[in-house]
Amino acid sequence: MASTDALDVRPIAPADSEAVWPLSIEAGWNQNLADWRFMLGAGRGFGCVAPDGTWQASSLVLPLGRNLAWISMVLVTQARRRGGVGTGLLKRCIDEVRQAGAVAGLDATEQGRPIYLPLGFRDLYPIARWHFDAATEAVAPPAGVTVRPFAVADLPRLALYDRPLTGMERPSILAHLALRRPERAWIAEDAAGKIVGYALGREGRTATSLGPVVADREDIALALVSRAAAAAPGPFIIDVPGVHAALRSWLERQGAVSPRGYMRMTLGEAKRLDDPTHVFALAGPELG
Ligand SMILES: CC(C)(COP(=O)(O)OP(=O)(O)OC[C@H]1O[C@@H](n2cnc3c(N)ncnc32)[C@H](O)[C@@H]1OP(=O)(O)O)[C@@H](O)C(=O)NCCC(=O)NCCS
Repeated sequence: MASTDALDVRPIAPADSEAVWPLSIEAGWNQNLADWRFMLGAGRGFGCVAPDGTWQASSLVLPLGRNLAWISMVLVTQARRRGGVGTGLLKRCIDEVRQAGAVAGLDATEQGRPIYLPLGFRDLYPIARWHFDAATEAVAPPAGVTVRPFAVADLPRLALYDRPLTGMERPSILAHLALRRPERAWIAEDAAGKIVGYALGREGRTATSLGPVVADREDIALALVSRAAAAAPGPFIIDVPGVHAALRSWLERQGAVSPRGYMRMTLGEAKRLDDPTHVFALAGPELG
């Protein structure tokens, strides 16, 4: 492996969002400028520039509470690949997470996993990225459960509901997504008005992104996803942990295809992070 000692790693500021965005476009990823601005504001970016000032590589650490931080947006422009830049940036991110006394998590692409394994990351569970154009099959919520549009007053309860089921403490991410696209956000409640699931979504560069979707049960998640997709413009992407067979069947019936996936990985132990039982769609591999 090439030496990373000489790597000139620089912080990426929110003001650099527009300049660094071409890296995710080159990789064919869905993030738009609003995503980059949010992520660089909420987290810490590290990257490398060419002598002419063009960003050639990026990486990001996003805190998800005091004990967990998400590493994402590890991108190296084609011409600089296989020179140790990806590994160097990742090491910088790991240092950052360790200094904060947290555990690092990430969702690895097939290309990223070979650089994470030697650094000590281990596999938690596989996730499929699905693409589909439109939802043709509506799914009613199970008896006793209603699905309704999100209201701003739901936010505190949403964060409280999310945390024990995901192991992630992410009130500012949930607030950003819900307030950015309130018309893409849905709440499932039981007869007593208790939250039993929710779905958020956002516009992307090439597709509407559905997620996160967190729910007590898969039948509730299915009703949320079908409602969210019926109310938004396609095409859609959604990242679903491999264990959810009913959601997978529904997606296949909508003509969804899954050309690639991710592996959720962690460096250290993070409570609940290894359990996808209630996680039906990620916020995205970049957000956890
Ligand atoms: C993944 C990525 C960031 C790697 O960046 P990089 O600077 O090329 O990575 P490194 O040079 O540090 O590679 C480290 C090692 O990983 C392995 N590796 C990297 N790319 C590989 C590939 N395409 N095939 C097989 N092994 C690979 C090799 O062992 C390599 O060491 P070597 O070049 O000495 O053999 C880059 O390919 C990229 O931007 N891909 C598209 C976006 C992406 O998938 N990012 C990962 C998100 S999880």
